[in-house]
Amino acid sequence: MATRIGIYPGTFDPLTFGHLDIIKRSLTIVDKLIVCVAENFTKKLLLSPDVRKKIILSDTTTYLEKNTDISVDVISGLLANYAKKNNATCIIRGLRAVSDFEYEFQMTGMNYQLNPTIETIFLMSSDKYSFISSNFIKEVHILGGDVSKFVSKNTIDILDKKNI
Ligand code: COA
Repeated sequence: MATRIGIYPGTFDPLTFGHLDIIKRSLTIVDKLIVCVAENFTKKLLLSPDVRKKIILSDTTTYLEKNTDISVDVISGLLANYAKKNNATCIIRGLRAVSDFEYEFQMTGMNYQLNPTIETIFLMSSDKYSFISSNFIKEVHILGGDVSKFVSKNTIDILDKKNI
């Protein structure tokens, strides 16, 4: 049987336990998952693509089962082209609330126009993570709040160094 390759794209500035939950659940749908760290020109980001990639590698190794087929890549071009080049059949996205829907709907439509062979699959975020966003994590952390329920210890250490 053909290997089903999925792509989970995002900015991941930084990866949260909400993202990790989506990664874990995606692996019941696809055989191989490529987590794509977008350089992203539209958002003001705190961490470099390389640091964001390292956090994902470290957290997936720590929190997921050892036999999972996951790789992490930084992308600077179009996701639709990356998907084609890497024989991916689906893009995975997490939906937290109705407010995510409009943006996701537009992005899905655009990706489909650019590459009609790729389907986008949405997973509902688990209740306990539905209010998390990377921006809130950064804001709460810089203001001295405890974010240990939402991100790894490794991530907190990286944020600590950034916020000195
Ligand atoms: N749990 C908790 N938080 C979640 C979450 C989940 N399951 N899923 C998303 N989030 C949060 C993120 O932390 C992030 O928070 P922030 O806005 O405070 O940073 C927010 O939801 C959305 O982030 P993310 O899922 O990383 O998506 P994004 O909108 O930053 O990513 C790309 C968009 C990278 C997928 C898109 O820009 C892209 O594909 N870029 C490549 C270039 C391209 O092809 N562009 C054309 C697209 S049509």
